[in-house]
Amino acid sequence: MARYAHIVGWGMAVPQRVVTNHELAQFVDTSDEWIVTRTGIRERRVAGPQESVATLSIAAAEEALAVAGISPRDVDLILVATATPEHLFPATACLVQDALGASKAGAFDLLAACSGFIYALHMAAAAIRAGTHDIALVIGAETFSRIVNWRDRETCVLFGDGAGAVVLKGSEALGGVLASMIRADGSGGELLILPAGGSRMPISEAVVRDSCHFIRMNGREVFRFATRVMEKATREVVAQAGLCLEDVDLIVPHQANIRIIETAAKGLGLPMDRFFVNIDRYGNTSAASIPIALCEAVQQERLKPGDTVVMVAFGAGLTWAAAVVQWGMPLARPRPPWLERLARITRYLPAQLHSRTMRLWRRFDARMSRLLQREGE
Ligand code: COA
Repeated sequence: MARYAHIVGWGMAVPQRVVTNHELAQFVDTSDEWIVTRTGIRERRVAGPQESVATLSIAAAEEALAVAGISPRDVDLILVATATPEHLFPATACLVQDALGASKAGAFDLLAACSGFIYALHMAAAAIRAGTHDIALVIGAETFSRIVNWRDRETCVLFGDGAGAVVLKGSEALGGVLASMIRADGSGGELLILPAGGSRMPISEAVVRDSCHFIRMNGREVFRFATRVMEKATREVVAQAGLCLEDVDLIVPHQANIRIIETAAKGLGLPMDRFFVNIDRYGNTSAASIPIALCEAVQQERLKPGDTVVMVAFGAGLTWAAAVVQWGMPLARPRPPWLERLARITRYLPAQLHSRTMRLWRRFDARMSRLLQREGE
């Protein structure tokens, strides 16, 4: 019997701190007028010292699980799409797994930059369809504020921080992820690159002096690539789902530049009100942009159960991806905020205690085995 991957929960988390264009114009040579007309961005969120890609991922995941009414113990796969992981390893997904107490989940990060969320959705849906997994948490999370050069006006005005998550659940009922595609063209890798910090160019004094630990981007070329693939990928995935553009209720595009979205709308012959746009408030949050936009589309009742939504993204790699989803129902009934807070404390406190106990146990176990070894010598 055919299996489908349904989206049954969603959540988002953004840092508290808002940085407006006017604020940016105080320390780089730019203006609100330039940024708004060239990109559509008015402000973005920037992570504070206590916030990180893991804390944002955990908060978004907790919200998504609450909407789904699913216990973290039932999740069997956690994917975090991010280009700004907490560390190169361990994977941010493992930190999320530990914080949630998702004791039977496999967890790994996926790097496809701004296309990452759709890549992760594609992989998780495939695992669910294949029957190897039943409940997957798919997270897109970024803290680009930590890798942009705040003195480079060509990049620092574009990006922002945040996280979004969805819960996917297997079902025999037709619906959920109807079609999806992922693509790459590595020949364009240098157009958008973080040169240092990997094994090719480890961090050194020279690296820092030459600012190689910050994003480098050829904005014009990325723009040209983006306008080409957004339309093409949307048409391809809609056809793959056996639908036509008129069947699509909402398009949630990657929020990189309003002009890219407008060009895609024009190419597809669709009005802008068929596209969800929140770039003005968050800038480009890379892998987080689509799941954040999905959550806000639900909040604003632009996306309702049963609607057909297309997600489409492009990013470093170069990568691009698209998916057609029949939007699902939240499985849990909404609870008053105080009850939700209480439920979260009781749900996640045991996970924290378990994590600490495991760390202590590991230390104790290591010491005991050293002692026993010495006695045996
Ligand atoms: N404020 C003021 N002026 C700026 C500026 C800023 N923040 N950034 C660039 N400029 C200047 C440039 O230096 C250039 O000046 P010059 O003509 O004297 O050389 C001028 O504005 C025009 O630059 P240009 O690159 O032609 O602008 P643009 O219209 O292509 O817009 C981007 C630049 C970056 C907004 C646009 O190319 C873009 O959005 N590209 C895609 C980037 C992207 O989406 N990246 C993420 C992919 S996931």
